[in-house]
Amino acid sequence: MTINKVGVIGSGLMGSGIAEQSARCGFDVVVREINPEAVEAGQKRIFGSMTRGLERGKMTQEAHDEAVARLSFTTEVEALADCDIIIEAATENMALKKEIFADLDRLAKADAILATNTSSLSIAEIAAATSRPDKVLGIHFFNPVPVMPLIEYVRGLLTSDETMAAARQFGADLGKQTVESQDRPGFIVNRLLIPYALDAIRILEEGVATRDDIDLGIKLGLAHPMGPLTLSDFVGLDTLLFIADAMYDEFKDPRYAAPPLLRRMVTAGYHGRKTGKGFYDYS
Ligand code: CAA
Repeated sequence: MTINKVGVIGSGLMGSGIAEQSARCGFDVVVREINPEAVEAGQKRIFGSMTRGLERGKMTQEAHDEAVARLSFTTEVEALADCDIIIEAATENMALKKEIFADLDRLAKADAILATNTSSLSIAEIAAATSRPDKVLGIHFFNPVPVMPLIEYVRGLLTSDETMAAARQFGADLGKQTVESQDRPGFIVNRLLIPYALDAIRILEEGVATRDDIDLGIKLGLAHPMGPLTLSDFVGLDTLLFIADAMYDEFKDPRYAAPPLLRRMVTAGYHGRKTGKGFYDYS
């Protein structure tokens, strides 16, 4: 099947990046948010990022204007009815995702692909909310989407080969390289990232090393662009905790058990960069 029109549900950090990259790569994009305020915030994020791209010489004025013209925004889920692929990037909440997928199943074209950008929830469970589990898969992007060259594809038990092939072609058209994982919490990248980030928090909590030395050690010792505590702030401490809890729930392995410091920081509203405070102060 050919993908021309992309629907994106949610225009937070990930949804806006997915919408931006899709529009920049020539797809018509409809972004659905829950209310006009959220639409406005999403537009600000997407258009702001594209303006920065233009100012930094990453895009010509013509390419910028064409990408802007390919984007439309809505609060009506029905506006996604003629999309060839719909990517859900809403909050990591299974009940909400099931509701969204049941809606999409009702209104999307019969051959439309329904994808979730979840980083840890079960594709099989999300697919079970639809009557077309063969058309459902995980398409997991990385933040910032326009910069990170990877997409992780997650195959549910019932995802068809045709769906996987069409989604892979879509990823290539977005200029990304792809890897494939079976439907297990954390897939490939987070399965390795989460215990690493949790261990960084544990050694901070135990007083083994300071925040700055942990981050500098990894940045310089392993040539990572960010140390694990900076990266945790970047991902969002609430998101990190959510993924850790989902992985612990499934595997019951202490490697995925959140350290008390992380849980308390999240409870206190320290969610990292997006709230201005995490392991670092961004205010
Ligand atoms: N949109 C578009 N371009 C962006 C951007 C954005 N949001 N943010 C940065 N860039 C571009 C900049 O324009 C710049 O491009 P040039 O070098 O061509 O000028 C380039 O990226 C580097 O940006 P900066 O110079 O501003 O800053 P930096 O060198 O510190 O890089 C970074 C920033 C790209 C975020 C880098 O620090 C990095 O790669 N960090 C690691 C990010 C990472 O690991 N992401 C994955 C998180 S895990 C996840 O997302 C999945 C999950 O489920 C948890």
